[in-house]
Amino acid sequence: MYMTCNDRVKCYTDAMNDHTHTPPPCAGLRIGDVAPDFEARSTIGPIRLSNFRKRWLVLFSHPADFTPVCTTEFVALASEAAAFEKRDCALMALSVDSLFSHFAWLRMIRDRFGIEVRFPIVEDPTLVIGRAFGMVSAQDSDSATVRTTFFIDPRGVIRAMTCYPANLGRSVPEMLRILDGLQAIDANAALAPANWQPGEPLLSPPTNDLDEVFAAEDPTSWFLRNSGEQR
Ligand code: BEZ
Repeated sequence: MYMTCNDRVKCYTDAMNDHTHTPPPCAGLRIGDVAPDFEARSTIGPIRLSNFRKRWLVLFSHPADFTPVCTTEFVALASEAAAFEKRDCALMALSVDSLFSHFAWLRMIRDRFGIEVRFPIVEDPTLVIGRAFGMVSAQDSDSATVRTTFFIDPRGVIRAMTCYPANLGRSVPEMLRILDGLQAIDANAALAPANWQPGEPLLSPPTNDLDEVFAAEDPTSWFLRNSGEQR
């Protein structure tokens, strides 16, 4: 059947609002797992994930090149490349699109927005990486990955992950805050409270000692306590 322009717009928005057809994305991997290793072609040449160890890594998938939200994300991330570098963190993107689609998209971004995306974008045309990371489900008939982000520490361990739908762009300040939080809790053996921002107090882990619990004058001081100086 012939499809009018308006039908196409409606189909697009219907698909965006249908949240029911895809099983949960990050289902396969959990926090604490070692990120599965892979070798793939990328916009900076062939890469192997394990070669990125010894630094932090943000590995993220995007649904497709040449799409509106993804374009804004790449402009935002590339604009903040120095902020990730300052945190000793590499960026790596991934989608099902071909290497040549990635190249053409990066060229368009450079020409239109004046920003060169220099972090690698991996091509995953067979979805073998996307499936290993739970970026697409085994049952999913749609080849697009969702906006999954893995925060991987220098040992290659997944420390945090987020999943956003195709129609909601990620927040780069929140990605940086997650990195800051993970690095601060590691450096200080501490806990980061709600809405924590760099420079704000961290919390100490609660006591394991019942005598200390009963002896505390303030009924919360045994579990709600600021940690000392931050490193
Ligand atoms: C985007 O705008 O990035 C997008 C929207 C819908 C599906 C895939 C990507």
